[in-house]
Amino acid sequence: MKLMVIGGGGREHAIIKKLRENPAVDTIWALPGNGGIAADATCVPIKATDIDGIVRFAKENPVDYAVVAPDDPLVLGCVDALEAIGIPCFGPRKNAAIIEGSKVFSKDLMKKYGIPTAEYRVFDNAEDALEYLKEAPIPTVVKADGLALGKGVTVAMTREDAEAAVREAMEDKKFGASGDQIVIEEYLEGPEVSVLSFTDGTTVVPMISSMDHKRAGDGDTGPNTGGMGTVAPNPFYTDAVAAQCMETIFLPTIRAMKAEGREFRGCLYFGLMITKDGPKVIEYNCRFGDPETQVVLPLLESDLLTVMQAVTAGKLAECEVKFRDANACCVVLASAGYPVAYGKGYEITIPADVLPHVYVAGAAEKDGKLVTSGGRVLGVTAVADTLRAARDEAYAMADRIEFENKYCRRDIAARALNA
Ligand code: AMP
Ligand code: GLY
Repeated sequence: MKLMVIGGGGREHAIIKKLRENPAVDTIWALPGNGGIAADATCVPIKATDIDGIVRFAKENPVDYAVVAPDDPLVLGCVDALEAIGIPCFGPRKNAAIIEGSKVFSKDLMKKYGIPTAEYRVFDNAEDALEYLKEAPIPTVVKADGLALGKGVTVAMTREDAEAAVREAMEDKKFGASGDQIVIEEYLEGPEVSVLSFTDGTTVVPMISSMDHKRAGDGDTGPNTGGMGTVAPNPFYTDAVAAQCMETIFLPTIRAMKAEGREFRGCLYFGLMITKDGPKVIEYNCRFGDPETQVVLPLLESDLLTVMQAVTAGKLAECEVKFRDANACCVVLASAGYPVAYGKGYEITIPADVLPHVYVAGAAEKDGKLVTSGGRVLGVTAVADTLRAARDEAYAMADRIEFENKYCRRDIAARALNA
């Protein structure tokens, strides 16, 4: 089997390492991949958003199956374009990827189908939004409608912060057309849980739950980041909560998408808040989460390619999806200063016994050496019987990886261990 994986971060590295476990896989092309992924796949310098380039590559090479991992190519219709030239894909088509691509769409979908989520209002001009904010309950949450590199959400603790977020999105056009519409929604409280799921549009199989750590600093302080670490499973996701989520959120969402003629096939990510009134949807993502994937896939016992192909074929109900009864912890190593300003180009040294546990996010190859090229450089994941042991092992490995200006949070898993 010859596979093509679109994307080039830690999530894609985790997907590629898992796909490699299937002995039938002989070639994996990563578009574009990165300097670390190059150890496990053939990297091809075509950007994940260059749909024409991806299609051209797929026509010129014997690609049997494609996995489209990031949000932007999915929202741009990468799967539709590859299917049009006869390549089966893992990932939703454009008309289903909109569940992440437009917050207005997803909020309206939830409202129409009675799926629990925060109360909200939609605005298409700053004047009305600012008028509404004069009376709105504070804290509140301001969200740009479209994709915004993970920066389109402002949890505003004051009226001034909320107004500033509206002005940035709608007047300064900080997120371009993604801010043409905004959602202002009710502030929810409770522990957050990420649940990635496999779905073929009819059957939905939740993966093991996980917890992200989004803030840059210990104790959940500092700016929001792409994620500084994860654990799985998430202790707040009890069996009772899981059952409630299946009944009130997962199945209703899959059915709603199908009823709208937008059958979702791929990985649907449910970002949930476990409020005192039950679980509510904070956001949907049309893809695997990053760095959730780096703890979820190491716990997957079943063969990933088999499950993905069952999703594509609409035969997920016939496929066994098993997770190990164990705990995983991923610690992200970043460059000091991330997400604001940081240096690049520092040589990275990874001990050989640690390498199998490493998922590279932002590194390039330079003169035969691996050097840092992004804010989040890599993630290192340990699996153990207890979360405490997984955490200790992940940090022990993280401490043996070296590069200048290396930074990581020291409290990944603390919240879960205190739960
Ligand atoms: P992002 O990954 O940029 O979409 O960040 C969204 C984050 O904002 C979530 O993980 C939550 O922590 C927070 N958030 C989003 N919506 C709400 C809400 N309605 N109430 C409280 N926090 C929220
Ligand atoms: N970790 C959150 C996301 O992938 O959007």
